Amino acid sequence: MNLNTKKLFHDAEAGGYAIGQFNASTADQIKGIIGTAARMRAPVIVATSEGECAFIGARQVVKLCEAYEEEAGIPIILNADHTYKDAEKIENLDKIKALLTAGYNSIHFDGSVLSFEDNVRWTKQVVELCKEKDPGISVEGELGFLPGASEVSEKKVEIKPEYLTDPAQALEFVRATGVDRLAVSVGNSHGISFQEDRLDIERIGKIKEAIGDHAVLVLHGGSGIPDEQIRAAIAHGIRKINVNTELRVAFHGALKEVLTTTPQTTPYKFFPPAIDAVARVVEGKITVFGSGMHA
Ligand code: 13P
Repeated sequence: MNLNTKKLFHDAEAGGYAIGQFNASTADQIKGIIGTAARMRAPVIVATSEGECAFIGARQVVKLCEAYEEEAGIPIILNADHTYKDAEKIENLDKIKALLTAGYNSIHFDGSVLSFEDNVRWTKQVVELCKEKDPGISVEGELGFLPGASEVSEKKVEIKPEYLTDPAQALEFVRATGVDRLAVSVGNSHGISFQEDRLDIERIGKIKEAIGDHAVLVLHGGSGIPDEQIRAAIAHGIRKINVNTELRVAFHGALKEVLTTTPQTTPYKFFPPAIDAVARVVEGKITVFGSGMHA
């Protein structure tokens, strides 16, 4: 798979657009994601959380993305999303070693539950491990805390001021760790809740100003954020945006509809509406992110 991931983010920086990260756990969702990106000539990031990866299989998703990359002719980044989210059994970074062996070309190490010092220490080790394997592998660190999970929730998600990423600390973090990308807490949250996220655009601008070209900025929790806020975030320096919940909702809704309204039992006949539903979400996001015609 494409190992020049740094160049892709460099191009996004130069072009002032954001590359979409779309999470998936089945081949059908991946078909919808990559098919759309290929049609729109957009560089694309397919991602698996730890749960999604455990379901589809690390080696399996790598091979699938490799096959699509050859066929579609667009660069595909395969990112391991939120690795070590709960900071459990982190000691020898076995999970990351296994993902690199399987062929992932991008790692997101989530040390956001750790103290600043431990987050720096572990993130730095992850960067070293990845660069040893291949300098082209792109590594994302996370600073600040993001509440919520990739689901639709009735609960109010509280974003406390202490969760937010501090611009000066962001510079210290990227300098000390050498990460290629930095995920930030700027009013965003995972999932869709009844109250919309309100991004702190000014903070995004300040973080960008502080870190300069040391790393590219990443916005997690891309579902449920109004398009005009996303556009403003990109204008202030966001270069990668993660989307999961909206894809899950679209896939599930379309599948439920087809299974309850037709007697269809043939998978290759009942999956296409769900794949199309994923494709429509991806198309909308790529349009807002401005990444089309850049691959
Ligand atoms: P959403 O589920 O809110 O789209 O967030 C996805 C995400 O940030 C994955 O890392």
